[in-house]
Amino acid sequence: MVTLLENPLRVGLQQQRTPEPLILVIFGASGDLTKRKLVPSLYQLKKERRLPPEMTIVGVARREWSHDHFREQMKEGIEEFSDGIGSEELWSDFAEGLYYCSGNMDEKESYEKLNQLLSELDGRRGTRGNRVFYLAVSPNFFAPAINNLGATGMLDDPIKHRLVIEKPFGKDLSSAQSLNRVVQNVCKEEQVYRIDHYLGKETVQNLLVFRFANAIFEPLWNRQFVDHVQITVAESVGVEDRAGYYDSSGALRDMVQNHLIQLLCLTAMEAPNALNADSIRTEKVKVLQATRLADIHNLQNSAIRGQYSKGWMKGKPVAGYREEPGVDPHSTTPTFVGLKLMVDNWRWQGVPFYLRTGKRLPKKVSEIAIQFRAVPLLIFQSVAQQTNPNILTLRIQPNEGISLRFEAKTPGADLHTRTVDMDFSYGSSFGMATAEAYQRLLLDCMLGDQTLFTRADEVEEAWRVVTPALSAWEAPTDPSTIPQYEAGTWQPSEAEDLINRDGRHWRRL
Ligand code: BG6
Repeated sequence: MVTLLENPLRVGLQQQRTPEPLILVIFGASGDLTKRKLVPSLYQLKKERRLPPEMTIVGVARREWSHDHFREQMKEGIEEFSDGIGSEELWSDFAEGLYYCSGNMDEKESYEKLNQLLSELDGRRGTRGNRVFYLAVSPNFFAPAINNLGATGMLDDPIKHRLVIEKPFGKDLSSAQSLNRVVQNVCKEEQVYRIDHYLGKETVQNLLVFRFANAIFEPLWNRQFVDHVQITVAESVGVEDRAGYYDSSGALRDMVQNHLIQLLCLTAMEAPNALNADSIRTEKVKVLQATRLADIHNLQNSAIRGQYSKGWMKGKPVAGYREEPGVDPHSTTPTFVGLKLMVDNWRWQGVPFYLRTGKRLPKKVSEIAIQFRAVPLLIFQSVAQQTNPNILTLRIQPNEGISLRFEAKTPGADLHTRTVDMDFSYGSSFGMATAEAYQRLLLDCMLGDQTLFTRADEVEEAWRVVTPALSAWEAPTDPSTIPQYEAGTWQPSEAEDLINRDGRHWRRL
């Protein structure tokens, strides 16, 4: 186990900072994201005294709610999805800054009404014209909302006005490009915060610290020493009640283009010149420009899709994907994707990056595993038939931490070896739970720090990487040809072949 030294090399990604007074406008205020994540995260920030006293939140949605009804709904959300309101005094101080404005996302009058409310609130709350507009709505409303915010002048000030856009940013390369054009028409890139909540996860940020605040790993972090990299983001849940969105999206769009590709970028990137948004994002874009599916001529050698069929989870029978409510019974939408990617640059030439993600896998676990090359000559051959290669695992969730696997001699007079792990765990080393990703992301966009948000060129490059698979899988397909995996198992056999063919195996997690 690794423990914190008394005088450790502490590297903060940022100093303790508090945003300027501002109004955060949340479009989609009656939705799940607002109630489950956004407002509970804001309240947690309030508890930690990270919000300015003038902080004001305006919820916008179509329903005719009063300010008080909005406040009640948000209180319920905080009580249900976080560790509660704490003191009534704190809650009433927070609630005083909550307002609601009903409106229609594609009607200009709604934005005019909103603008008027915001000006009034500036006078009442002292928010000085600073605004963050957060689009937590269905992607169909992104373009109308951005155009209307532009038309009513609400994004005119490049310093005071910011725009946060939830995922998915486009559904393919060309729709992402046109959405970028809509955005660029009304504001500057410095005002735009494209969310990928994986970048807000503590362990994902720690990747940068681990790589660039420690000297001993970097010399090994390349094709000379690394055999391959495996990135797994497994979920045990099924499609839940999101069939409407998911069945037209699927795992490649929902998880790979954003979350898994971001993990790949942070693993593969060069050291940035400085710890600022543009240096880091420029290095990530360079990785993406060098990244391609291993074999685009024979897609089955580099991209496998799958769908869960009925099976068992924690001893209970569960439905197959096509039997889930709201899913087309002939759907070809992938709920599992396995990819083999190559990064064509000096550091990574010839090192495969295997990515897999799926729903209804045996457990929820996300990790990056760097497998090192085998020793050149095994001098212990007579006693150990085979030793295991060293693996460095960065556990993103759960049981957040890092472990290094190596071979050790078992105690005793005879020479036997065994594989052991050296482990660092966030929980035991820091004695506190890791923060909710949205907390960090909301704070950063209020502070004007774009480091953990995706830049326009980055989101387009990420779409480019997955385009060959996306286009092939968009073509009409006989549903019976989609590889199936039983709910509660790790992957379809085709995905096993993808890696076994190279003499390697998916990790057992
Ligand atoms: C979201 C996807 O972006 O990430 C969901 O739309 C998925 O389908 C979720 O369940 C996973 O996030 P986390 O933080 O639970 O790993």
